[in-house]
Amino acid sequence: MKTARKYKICVVGAGHVGLVAAACFSKLGHKVVCVDNDRNKIQMLKEMSMPFHEPGLEALVKRGLKRENLNFLFSLTEGIRSSEVIFIAVGTPPKKDGSADLSSVENVAYTAAKNLNSYKLVVGKSTVPVQTGKRIQEIIENNKDNGLKFDVASNPEFLREGKAIYDFFYPDRIVLGVESKKAENILKGIYSLVKAPFVVTDINTAELIKHASNSFLATKISFINAVSRVCDLAGADIEKVSKAMGMDRRIGSAFLQAGIGYGGFCFPKDIEAFAYISKKLGYEFGLLREVRNINQGQVVYFLRKIKGKLGSLKNKRAAVLGLSFKPGTDDMRFAPAVKIVEALSQEGVNLSLYDPKSMGKSKKVLKGIKRVKFFKSPYAAVAGADCVCFLTEWDEFRKLDLRKIKKIMKHPFIADGRNMLDKKKVLAAGFEYFGIGR
Ligand code: UDX
Repeated sequence: MKTARKYKICVVGAGHVGLVAAACFSKLGHKVVCVDNDRNKIQMLKEMSMPFHEPGLEALVKRGLKRENLNFLFSLTEGIRSSEVIFIAVGTPPKKDGSADLSSVENVAYTAAKNLNSYKLVVGKSTVPVQTGKRIQEIIENNKDNGLKFDVASNPEFLREGKAIYDFFYPDRIVLGVESKKAENILKGIYSLVKAPFVVTDINTAELIKHASNSFLATKISFINAVSRVCDLAGADIEKVSKAMGMDRRIGSAFLQAGIGYGGFCFPKDIEAFAYISKKLGYEFGLLREVRNINQGQVVYFLRKIKGKLGSLKNKRAAVLGLSFKPGTDDMRFAPAVKIVEALSQEGVNLSLYDPKSMGKSKKVLKGIKRVKFFKSPYAAVAGADCVCFLTEWDEFRKLDLRKIKKIMKHPFIADGRNMLDKKKVLAAGFEYFGIGR
């Protein structure tokens, strides 16, 4: 891939959004430096070692480093001074009250102001509350030491973990929140090789599109999870309900998979941050509170169902297959599996855990939790168990030999938190089974 014009880009933040964007911009032919304040991470990346699992990322990073149009730096100052366009992709973690912590974003804006050695376009890529772009503008304007010009823009990222590279090159739309023709043209130039419609708006609107999109997707999930509860009570099948609903093109089939709820670093925090900023602006977005409540309720419901089947949990053994918040990633942030493992352990259950990709991260996240053991294969984990819980729908779990599992379990009971198994087959193989809403 080669662009008509190569831009000098600095991506600040080598997390999921920043590192993927940096690697993909370099593939588009731009000259990219990716900055992070974690020295270890920068060193690792320079040595071509990836800080997290993302399919296709390593190859792009290696390619960029080899062709010398992708570099990693610790110095934010140097990164900013050597670039024309600065993408802010630093973390915006949730504060205790649910609002987004914007201190890292503000620090980049301040450093950009102090290092304005030429015209610069400062672009917000992290998910931020509406009006953050305005704040970035103010910080730069109030702190710059010269009369050089700058622009601020918003270009929210919609990539999914595990499919991030694909999502970058084949997005449904590219949202550009700009306030000058120059900024619009630069951003269109940067993405000129990506075939997707541009949606050009003002900065506030672009920022809001991101929060609204993620919140809507989370709402779809909570909606179908609420319907799954009614299905369980009424003896209906959520899988059929969701399939038939999704066939209506006005509804669409995506994000209608019932289960133990959504996790990951985006949905839980974005829902809170969107509710918070809405309230601050004067609107109580009660629907979002309910979306969160329904989501948290799914974990409680799943645990209640296990108890209902097993009776007393003390000294029982449960195998947990799948720990990451979804398949295709080793990310454990806000993974429903963490809450479930913690709760079962507190009830005195001995836990045998397995995940194809997130064992390393799980060991750190679940450190200190009693009665937890990690196993190298799903079969080793289920041996001797009274119950096996499927908590992440990894493909390899669908291929497990049910006959073998039944033989090695103490009690043949499957709790399917993702409705990922063929219920008929599982029952025919002689297991007790429950899913969510089926
Ligand atoms: C999400 C958005 O999809 C992406 O556009 C945004 O940029 C970041 O947040 P991601 O967090 O990577 O991406 O995961 P996603 O694939 O959207 O899944 C989020 C969670 O919802 C997962 O825990 C998943 O298991 C759950 N989910 C998803 C359901 O429970 N049911 C569904 O039908 C779909």
